Amino acid sequence: MACASFAKLNASSSQWIAQQSFTQRRGSSTRLASRRVSLPIRAGAYTDELVQTAKSVASPGRGILAIDESNATCGKRLSSIGLDNTEPNRQAYRQLLLTTPGLGEYISGAILFEETLYQSTTDGKKFVDCLRGENIVPGIKVDKGLVPLPGSNNESWCQGLDGLASRSAEYYKQGARFAKWRTVVSIPCGPSALAVKEAAWGLARYAAISQDNGLVPIVEPEILLDGDHPIERTLEVAEKVWAEVFFYLAQNNVVFEGILLKPSMVTPGAEHKEKASPETIAKYTLSMLKRRVPPAVPGIMFLSGGQSEVEATLNLNAMNQSPNPWHVSFSYARALQNTVLKTWQGRPENMEAAQKALLVRAKANSLAQLGRYSAQGESEEAKKGMFVKGYTY
Ligand code: 13P
Repeated sequence: MACASFAKLNASSSQWIAQQSFTQRRGSSTRLASRRVSLPIRAGAYTDELVQTAKSVASPGRGILAIDESNATCGKRLSSIGLDNTEPNRQAYRQLLLTTPGLGEYISGAILFEETLYQSTTDGKKFVDCLRGENIVPGIKVDKGLVPLPGSNNESWCQGLDGLASRSAEYYKQGARFAKWRTVVSIPCGPSALAVKEAAWGLARYAAISQDNGLVPIVEPEILLDGDHPIERTLEVAEKVWAEVFFYLAQNNVVFEGILLKPSMVTPGAEHKEKASPETIAKYTLSMLKRRVPPAVPGIMFLSGGQSEVEATLNLNAMNQSPNPWHVSFSYARALQNTVLKTWQGRPENMEAAQKALLVRAKANSLAQLGRYSAQGESEEAKKGMFVKGYTY
């Protein structure tokens, strides 16, 4: 029998609204044992808003445009088309993407790097306002990147928890409503139990802090494509990682209705001798998710991880051939930007064509979210893989 007992407020914006005591029946005896179990249930000041934000990002036929490359990674994108890594060039590229007319039909959220969150168009309109005008929720990358994890098999851990609460509060003021934290797990490196635990714990602490400050956390333990292992090995590692992530999310009282996930698809390693079909990838990925992710989670927004644009879209389409317990969609960076960059080449006269190229990819993925995509007529460029060994973001 359960009875609600008392409510307690903490010093921050969170409220611990209830602690329930259970009297448990033990053994076959009808005597009630007096063992009491406390179950704290957390409801923060932002809970309703978080649930609403997550729902609007996970809305039918839409997904996330990820353009949160750090300055260094954005520099690599720009140098691939012969541009210098300067702030005006980064701004011009992000302006092209974020001012694409009609983008909101296919895109529900955009993940920005801190620099972009505070930038405006050359006409002085804030990027966050451009997004809001298209009914796109602005998001922000909050992690501080990967560094070596001492005591592991040459693995890494993700920095950024120090000062995260105050940074998140500032990002919220600037208009961000969701956050992203990307950590990685490497299959060829083990992964070690230490690296998996560290990844999961970091994600859970970040998720709790984000929710406390009004940002829906995107939980992203990227299982890197690197390696020559078969798909079964990826499945095994993904199940282990997600089990641990959900264990710590629950321990940190994260509200599952107010998070989004950004998993890697379950595929063979990039150097494995055989490629898997979209149907096989969908089967393995959905089995893993169904075993590990509660239906309370509103959305699964896959990363592309170095797959070609067409591959990433075909795989997503295969996952949406029958109903899923969650919205299954995309949060692609490379698989939405590759053709756009190649079309733009940094030339103002190519801007319109580049925006059209973005709409083509966004629409293809929107159709894939609805399970209605066909790869007929796709360009050769969109079929080129983008896998980079040991990729950093
Ligand atoms: P990709 O789709 O390029 O793998 O991007 C991953 C990511 O985390 C972007 O936010």
